[in-house]
Amino acid sequence: MKYAIISDLHGNLPALNAVLEDVSKRGITEFIFAGDYCLSSPYPDQVITAIRNIKNKHVIRGNEEHYLESLVGKDQSQWTDGQMQISYWNYRNISEDNRDYLLSQPVNVDLICDGVNIHITHTIESFIGENEFRLIGPGVLAKRFKGKKIDPGILKKYIISTIENDERFMEEISELEDGIYIFGHSHVQWSYKVPGKDVYLINPGSCGLPLDGIENTLPYTILDIENGNVKVEHIRVYFDLVSYSKTLKDSTQFKEANVWTKIIMKELSSSREKITFFIDYVNRYANDIGDNRRPFAVDTWETAYDKWEKSMSYVFYGNEEVAKVHSDRKVLKGIDTPLDLYDALTKVWCKETCAPRMQNEWTPENMTYGQCSITSFLVQDIFGGIVKGVLLDDGNYHCYNVVDGHVFDLTSEQFEKELIYSPDDKVQIREEHFRKEEKRQRYELLKEKLFLSVE
Ligand SMILES: [Fe+2]
Repeated sequence: MKYAIISDLHGNLPALNAVLEDVSKRGITEFIFAGDYCLSSPYPDQVITAIRNIKNKHVIRGNEEHYLESLVGKDQSQWTDGQMQISYWNYRNISEDNRDYLLSQPVNVDLICDGVNIHITHTIESFIGENEFRLIGPGVLAKRFKGKKIDPGILKKYIISTIENDERFMEEISELEDGIYIFGHSHVQWSYKVPGKDVYLINPGSCGLPLDGIENTLPYTILDIENGNVKVEHIRVYFDLVSYSKTLKDSTQFKEANVWTKIIMKELSSSREKITFFIDYVNRYANDIGDNRRPFAVDTWETAYDKWEKSMSYVFYGNEEVAKVHSDRKVLKGIDTPLDLYDALTKVWCKETCAPRMQNEWTPENMTYGQCSITSFLVQDIFGGIVKGVLLDDGNYHCYNVVDGHVFDLTSEQFEKELIYSPDDKVQIREEHFRKEEKRQRYELLKEKLFLSVE
């Protein structure tokens, strides 16, 4: 028996159609749908209708169906929360009949195929706790592979080595009974066979809103069980998610749940997590302005979005963190946050301020190259905190800043590969660095140029 496992469609009908076409070409007629049919793309009703029209299927509910259910029978005049705008739009754009169908689906399904037990539920947490999001969730991947093209082979290796090196994860899965465990929710496609046991974990990824960084493809997974033998094959169907994301602008969803839809457009076109970062941001922003309303007044929700988007246009590590960091020292006019400092530094970083051994490779396009230590100590002058260093393969430290617990690195863009910043990184001592006279002179030069530029 061959099953096509499809999950997390999130209202994306064109994605469902593209995957169904691929499934049909392969002659597969059995389906497993692992939850989250609505919320985010503007075709939830059509997605549900399409699934209802499929003959051989197992369908379970996901967490988005829970949001839909929570609105049933509620007074719509009270629907005024910013974060909930997308849920309100969904509720109003799914027919009652389709809503009833969706909400009548079970939360989990267990079945036996050819003597093999199959368990289907929306989140892996039901099987082994919160390990997936902690280790290989879309937020973790977005930070780990930020701005870098991800190849499915590299991602697979990264996921397997991450989970195999995690004792807690390996211990929890060792307790599972033989069988196939199917789940979705994280929007990251992966699978794992527990060594020495007939236990298979399968996440087919999100067909409608992939967040594992493999751009312009739609994931689904084929489960093949024959004479008790299990084969798992991950498929990625090419689909122009960048063009598709732009079409969301024409939907009523864009008007009625504007902030959410704009973030989803960013997620679709990058295949990377954004929404949870924004929710963290708006939460901190609301706390800052003393607004206790949750899930957020529309005003707070929209203003926070504008601020967050501005910070997102910066690509250095910690760009979302630094809007929270302020200079209380009033050292430089117009420099309030490290974003202001970054803007000013882009006008003054130059070959002369680059470390001598790296100057030949310095270019205006790679302006942060060879500038890390002097920049970090300048940041410290203005914002306080400490300078820390990531130990590089060549034995040198790459310097970055930690201010009030916010980790950021104004010169991270020079690296092809994302660095791993750890709380164990060594604190860098100014006096030790400036014992090298040439470095102290470059620091003075950078400082002088900066002060001149903002005067
Ligand atoms: Fe989902």
